[in-house]
Amino acid sequence: MSCHKSYITTPIYYVNDVAHIGHAYTTIIADTLARYARLIGQETFFLTGTDEHGQKIEESAKKKGKDIKAYADEISASFRNLWDEFDISYDKFIRTTDEDHKTGVQKAFSTMYEKGDIYKDKYQGHYCISCETFFPELQLVDGEYCPDCGKSTTIVEEESYFFRLSAYEEKLLNWYKEYPECILPKSKRNEVIRFVEGGLNDLSITRTSFDWGVKLPEQFNDPKHVMYVWLDALMNYVTALGYGTDEKNMDFWPARVHLIGKDILRFHAIYWPAFLMSLNLPLPKHIGVHGWWTRNGEKMSKSKGNVVNPKEVADAYGLENFRYFMLREVPFGGDGDFSQNALIDRINSDLGNDLGNLLNRLIGMSGKYFEGRVECDKVAQYYQAELDEVNLSIDRLEPFLFELQIHRYLEELWRPLGIANKAIDKYQPWLMIKEGKVEETMALNGLIAMILAQVSLMLHAVMPKTTQVIAKALGFEITPERFEAIIRNGAMLEPFTTERRDPLFPRVEEPLLAEKKVVEEEPKPPKKAPKVEVKKEEGISLIGIDQFFQTSLKVGTIIQAEAVAKSDKLLLLQVDLGEAQPRQVVAGIKEWYTPEELVGTQVCVVANLKPAKLMGMKSEGMLLAAKDGDGLCLIRPEKPKAIGTPIK
Ligand code: MSP
Repeated sequence: MSCHKSYITTPIYYVNDVAHIGHAYTTIIADTLARYARLIGQETFFLTGTDEHGQKIEESAKKKGKDIKAYADEISASFRNLWDEFDISYDKFIRTTDEDHKTGVQKAFSTMYEKGDIYKDKYQGHYCISCETFFPELQLVDGEYCPDCGKSTTIVEEESYFFRLSAYEEKLLNWYKEYPECILPKSKRNEVIRFVEGGLNDLSITRTSFDWGVKLPEQFNDPKHVMYVWLDALMNYVTALGYGTDEKNMDFWPARVHLIGKDILRFHAIYWPAFLMSLNLPLPKHIGVHGWWTRNGEKMSKSKGNVVNPKEVADAYGLENFRYFMLREVPFGGDGDFSQNALIDRINSDLGNDLGNLLNRLIGMSGKYFEGRVECDKVAQYYQAELDEVNLSIDRLEPFLFELQIHRYLEELWRPLGIANKAIDKYQPWLMIKEGKVEETMALNGLIAMILAQVSLMLHAVMPKTTQVIAKALGFEITPERFEAIIRNGAMLEPFTTERRDPLFPRVEEPLLAEKKVVEEEPKPPKKAPKVEVKKEEGISLIGIDQFFQTSLKVGTIIQAEAVAKSDKLLLLQVDLGEAQPRQVVAGIKEWYTPEELVGTQVCVVANLKPAKLMGMKSEGMLLAAKDGDGLCLIRPEKPKAIGTPIK
């Protein structure tokens, strides 16, 4: 995707709680994309902010005995301060309590009404205050609890204005089909299509049961209604550009990418494009959906006391190391588990050994042989093959970033570092210099310097300050002009002199933060071990049919597959079992299957296994397979079966 203007957004964060690692993750991804877009010379607008209306915020403030606006001011400021401390390069921080935002939302309401997309009716339904969403009775868990967050719902009967969402079903389906990359990763798009194909009901878009929200435009003369918080919130993406007030920045619309977490996909991929169509505005180019961060395999929550505080982590391990870790550790779209050991491993291994040591080696060699001098003019003469290999690798990188395969981007970016280290081992400069091959040795140092320069330019958006330090050591400064010259036009570095310096990534020996004690949310009754009658017959333990049925086996289709880096055994799969989300399965089958041959094939999945963690990645199921001396094969249905079919 190449665009001249780049408008990049994060969700706006609710002001009922302070920022945690999940919020930091979305914001850091968005910041990385914005920084990269600026570096390649695109006009960029990066938006973040806070979502401040709705019953949830009203109740939170009341519980704390605070005035709602004062409470919102306080938490909104805490988000803004954190992003400032994190050097997040946002161009605007929007608050839904801003006057111009409210005016824009009212303008949108009137426009949709005039178009005939809004009508007034009565609504009765089960409302989850935490998710600010109505749910049909059928979807409730045990007839009462929210299917998304598990909290109790309340029955609400209200007069309400409705948006004719049902009228947009076909148009939405056409959009998903016509622009296959509108939702990334693509597996998430399939989920949305399935949901919309199941039929859309009109959407209640005003509330009368509380007050804390944007009022309807005056001409409606209906003061007891306030706007549904998701209509109010989604509109921020255009009101921030001036929609409905001073439209001077509206030429940034449509967004290049809205970054969101998977829990708010439906709002962004169904409601938002439908609202935009109703307003005759173009649709966003991409909605980028990331997975969920857990802590030791468990959902983070305040009551459990296992919430990861991003500031604590950044203070302890370094902000940019933390940024690198988050973007590298988890495939975009998949869930990830936060562990200090995984973070330490990334710092010591990727950053310390691969990147930091290479710079040290260059400083050491140039110091020893050339009093620190490095010249690049003869690199092509001696090391054209290595240069070509590096350039090929660098040229392939950019699409990964804008296709939101950020982990792949970083994985590929480490390839040139490998080439550099290999070249040192292969050419053995300590021997070359002894043999009097001075020019070759200088050119080798030049090659290392060029590789470090290219890597630091391409890594700049992820680690802005660290890469400037590397660039400085190589005698240049990272700017869009230097990017253009070195990355796009193959310019070589000017001669420079290295100086000894402390290591960029000091080794971390052990976790730096005390592990928090996890509090069980509610004391659970001790589990009774099921009575198992085990009969031994010819060495086989016999089980009853009930025990067999305790295992849920299902037919699934693999919709995505990729190799797990640094593992000879593991593949990372997304398996569709016909549930709301595909399952992430980490399977030890790499020796026998390639990712390509697996995609689109059916497998048998143990669907009720407790999630486990393999190399830091969550695995939510297991594939049935048979292994003997000849190797392993997957057990598959003989004929294609509907996704989710139980296996008996
Ligand atoms: N206010 C809405 C968004 C409105 S956008 C028009 C909202 N706010 S939120 O504060 O609850 O969540 C903001 C973002 O944080 C969401 O994208 C959500 O997915 C993300 N995360 C919240 N907890 C998370 C994790 N544990 N892990 C990863 N991201 C998570 O929703």
